[in-house]
Amino acid sequence: MSVRYRITFFEENMNKFINRRQIILGTIFSYYLYSSVVHSSQKIPIHVYKDSNCGCCKKWIEILENNDFSVTSEDMFPSDLVKLKVKNNIPMNMISCHTAKVFNYFIEGHVPPSDIKSLINKKVDVIGLAVPGMPYGSPGMGPEDKREAFDVFLISKDGSKVYNHYDSKN
Ligand code: CU
Ligand code: CU
Repeated sequence: MSVRYRITFFEENMNKFINRRQIILGTIFSYYLYSSVVHSSQKIPIHVYKDSNCGCCKKWIEILENNDFSVTSEDMFPSDLVKLKVKNNIPMNMISCHTAKVFNYFIEGHVPPSDIKSLINKKVDVIGLAVPGMPYGSPGMGPEDKREAFDVFLISKDGSKVYNHYDSKN
């Protein structure tokens, strides 16, 4: 092996080494980037329209925050809240105190977080979910162990049907 050849050999291998190191660093960096994106996307963004005087709305928001949702909210006049519901095709017999928007779905009232998650995962073309009125013991409405029976309704353009049922616990 001539000296000249040895130097070339050395340079080529150094280049390979450097390239490989860049690839490894790149991989670590992109993994880091990926994991931080995945981490932040674990929280589900939801926006809540509510009446400022409504304490149960705040309780429901707290429950969402403790169940993987990242909540933003705004207070509205009661009359504007009703207009918002009507404009977004939430039937009058389905209405409750607050309305939330998650992706393209509307969530009306004290819907349990698990039902919202299951709807999101189904990716169905519907208006959303509702728990009409404010059933005692539904999330944000007092003790779960004393709840009255209630239904979560699936609202679609063709009407509403029962999506999930919760038995009475009292
Ligand atoms: Cu309420
Ligand atoms: Cu509310």
